[in-house]
Amino acid sequence: MAAPTEFLTYIDSKADAFIQRLADAVAIQSVSGDAKRRGEVVRMAHWLDGQLKALGVETKLVDLGKHVMDGVELDLPPAILGSIGNDPKKKTVLIYGHFDVQPANKSDGWDTEPFELVIKENGQLVGRGSSDDKGPILGWLNVLEYHRDNQKPLPVNIKFCFEGMEESGSEGLDELVEKESKAGGYFEGVDCVCISDNYWLNDRTPVLTYGLRGLTYFKVTVSGPGRDLHSGVFGRTVHEPMTDLIHLMGRLVDQQGNILVPGVDEMVPPADDEEKAIYEALDYSISDVESAAGGQISLTSNKVDLLMGRMRNPSLSLHGIEGAFSEPGAKTVIPAKVSGKFSIRLVPPQTPEAVNPLVIEYLKSEFAKLNTKNRLEIEGLHGGKPWVADHKHWNFEAAKRATRSVYKQEPDLTREGGSIPVTLTFAESLGVNVLLLPMGRGDDGAHSTNEKLDRSNFIEGSKLLGSYLYELAAISK
Ligand code: BES
Ligand code: MN
Ligand code: MN
Repeated sequence: MAAPTEFLTYIDSKADAFIQRLADAVAIQSVSGDAKRRGEVVRMAHWLDGQLKALGVETKLVDLGKHVMDGVELDLPPAILGSIGNDPKKKTVLIYGHFDVQPANKSDGWDTEPFELVIKENGQLVGRGSSDDKGPILGWLNVLEYHRDNQKPLPVNIKFCFEGMEESGSEGLDELVEKESKAGGYFEGVDCVCISDNYWLNDRTPVLTYGLRGLTYFKVTVSGPGRDLHSGVFGRTVHEPMTDLIHLMGRLVDQQGNILVPGVDEMVPPADDEEKAIYEALDYSISDVESAAGGQISLTSNKVDLLMGRMRNPSLSLHGIEGAFSEPGAKTVIPAKVSGKFSIRLVPPQTPEAVNPLVIEYLKSEFAKLNTKNRLEIEGLHGGKPWVADHKHWNFEAAKRATRSVYKQEPDLTREGGSIPVTLTFAESLGVNVLLLPMGRGDDGAHSTNEKLDRSNFIEGSKLLGSYLYELAAISK
């Protein structure tokens, strides 16, 4: 059953107001990874809670306790649980999204202020969180607004679960989801889950996503001197922590992306021809990846290898070195303590529990080979398991029908390289199908400078989310 035409025209007619609401959301600097902005994440929770209440959703803010970040104890931002409709004859869908965002400073290379939404002439809505993940959350609000303004009942019952710590590993959320999934919990009666927190592969073909990679994130610290040293006085005199660390970091992954930690790549069975055919059929080319990356730097010119590298193989990336000299100028310093950060994206059957011991063992043995008198410390920062769903399920079928009706296109089925830690928790603790239904495009630049959401993706994407609810209502289980 397609969504009412009246709904589609309503979304078009309210586009400017919806974009203004997105601007209001982007203006709240809800960066979960920045201790100084924790108050902004809390403010964002209250803002969203107010919007939901005004649209007729019964909500509650759930205190998730405290956590330690960078050695400081902080209150976790509250999660928002919401509920609208409880007609036993209707299906119940659980909708998840995150209202925290990645850090952004104009000096990172943004053309405009990251927390001021800019509407460009080409229709791009530029601002941090526009695509990841405030735009999609607001898409759901747009759908609710039609039903409130026109006194129309929703076609399904909805439960909401919105969090403010996703970009920092979703701390505290697994426990909440597990608790509320039990009999008598808030999520009782949920038939399926929909998450809109991912992207198309390119800039033209809608997708439905049935897999995400997991993650395990490490911080490796090398220390020795009691304080930073003058390299003129101590160069070639002491073991330098940075020299040791660079050596270790250089032994983790090779230039072709092969993971050098023994046993990690080997855990994943190779793809057979049948699986390779899935990647061959996707609407994706080397130029899509290069234009999204902003450089002609793809690891291979083989499309299948490229897609498998992103979707079904693990990867190891080096992220940064804390404590290293990183200001402009030429300071002749030997840093006393440096911490390398890297992470591994995991695919089935890998889990952080299975991979972490291999990484720790390898780092220790490589460090021992250096014959250094410096000290090594290895910490796991956060992690999450990979997830793969059954894309033949009615939940996906409803989303396919909605995509056809809004975009007049057949969606590609994808697995994604990124991670949303709570996805597998929803699937396992509720025992229901989870669908990822994206709003944005592959070149939106999530986590990057000049993050954007195209106006058409925001508006058509809102229609898509609403249409999905109508298709869900009509489909037989
Ligand atoms: N929306 C992304 C997840 C994602 C990334 C989906 C790429 C599809 C493609 C999410 O907000 C995200 O950034 N997740 C983090 C999780 C991490 C901090 C545990 C990620 O993937 O780095
Ligand atoms: Mn996201
Ligand atoms: Mn993100």
